[in-house]
Amino acid sequence: MAIKKEQRLLGVGILGCGPISQFGHLESVQKARNTQLRAVCDADEGLANRFGAFYDASAIYLDYDAMLADETVEAVIIATSDAFHVPAAIRALQAGKHVFCEKPIGLSVQEVQDLQKVVDATGKVLQVGHMLRFDPGIQSAKDFLTDEMGEILALKAWYCDSTARYTNTDAIQPVPRTGTRAIKPSENPKANLRRYNMLAHGCHLLDLARYLSGPIVEVHARHREKYGAMSWFIDVEFENRALGHLDLTLAVRMDWHEGFQIYGQNGSIKANILNPWYYRAAEVDIFREADASTHRVLGADGHFYRRQLEGFGDVILKGAPMTGASIIDGLESVRAMVAVMRSAETGQPVKLADATGPV
Ligand SMILES: NC(=O)c1ccc[n+]([C@@H]2O[C@H](COP(=O)([O-])OP(=O)(O)OC[C@H]3O[C@@H](n4cnc5c(N)ncnc54)[C@H](O)[C@@H]3O)[C@@H](O)[C@H]2O)c1
Repeated sequence: MAIKKEQRLLGVGILGCGPISQFGHLESVQKARNTQLRAVCDADEGLANRFGAFYDASAIYLDYDAMLADETVEAVIIATSDAFHVPAAIRALQAGKHVFCEKPIGLSVQEVQDLQKVVDATGKVLQVGHMLRFDPGIQSAKDFLTDEMGEILALKAWYCDSTARYTNTDAIQPVPRTGTRAIKPSENPKANLRRYNMLAHGCHLLDLARYLSGPIVEVHARHREKYGAMSWFIDVEFENRALGHLDLTLAVRMDWHEGFQIYGQNGSIKANILNPWYYRAAEVDIFREADASTHRVLGADGHFYRRQLEGFGDVILKGAPMTGASIIDGLESVRAMVAVMRSAETGQPVKLADATGPV
């Protein structure tokens, strides 16, 4: 593959050489038209050396502060466990770096608000890794919504992980390398599966709903667990008064099942989103009432992990508008997760403005 690079490249340092970097970020920095890999950092020497060397990093660090002191690193990708996102992002911003941080941006409303203050004070760019926003199929839906759809009457969206997920991904991905010195949070994130599923998967669904239909005002959620599976059905009140229904189910006894439908004034959209590791654009059918015809973009470049990084680079290097998830989007996604969890516990609707505390 010929990699065509632009003249001005953003110097990137990656914190964390765990699975998401091995499967997504290292290759993305290598392939993106506007980035170059200045450094990798991992407390596990084996991981740092192996992946730093393989991806031609100019420098390899075991200590995060040492990487932050590297002046050739203009932006940091934070690819660590969720619990470290906010503290690592704050340190990077205070060291004068732009930040691309994996999702979810944080674990509680309070800590993300603290981060927001640092983003505002430093004026640096922070983008959250809600990569669905860079799926060409989903972007075609967004364009239709912005330019032609008119008012939205209703939106349904679903994220249903499959029991076959790991069979699929094991078949596609290289075997992830692990290290005995990798830094892990004191509490195992999977100890509370309900919370883990909300943080790991619910944040994608909620950000997607906001990306498509705008701010969420209130949620009313029900939750059920059976035979080791769990499901949330969530009624959503959007600021634009569209009706919303979200379905978060882990794991369905069928293939990966993710997508959305939108009914609008001048058309409708049906979207089937594929397992992200296929790197295939979502199959998005846009029906235009005006000519009673359906259009589907091919979206041959389905590498949304690379595409989100190029978008991040364009904001920093060219002053392009931010189309990725901002700190406000990250905060609202955390608020929405808190609200869904509280609503499912109490059986009552919860306004996002009242959502505080941890997810
Ligand atoms: N967007 C997506 O589709 C997607 C998919 C999978 C995972 N993720 C997200 O990616 C993140 C990382 O996931 P993972 O499975 O790769 O995590 P992981 O915990 O397995 O790996 C993180 C690595 O970071 C290193 N690290 C952490 N703190 C460090 C520090 N202070 N100094 C040096 N090294 C440090 C660890 O040693 C470890 O090797 C999670 O937040 C997860 O939600 C996103």
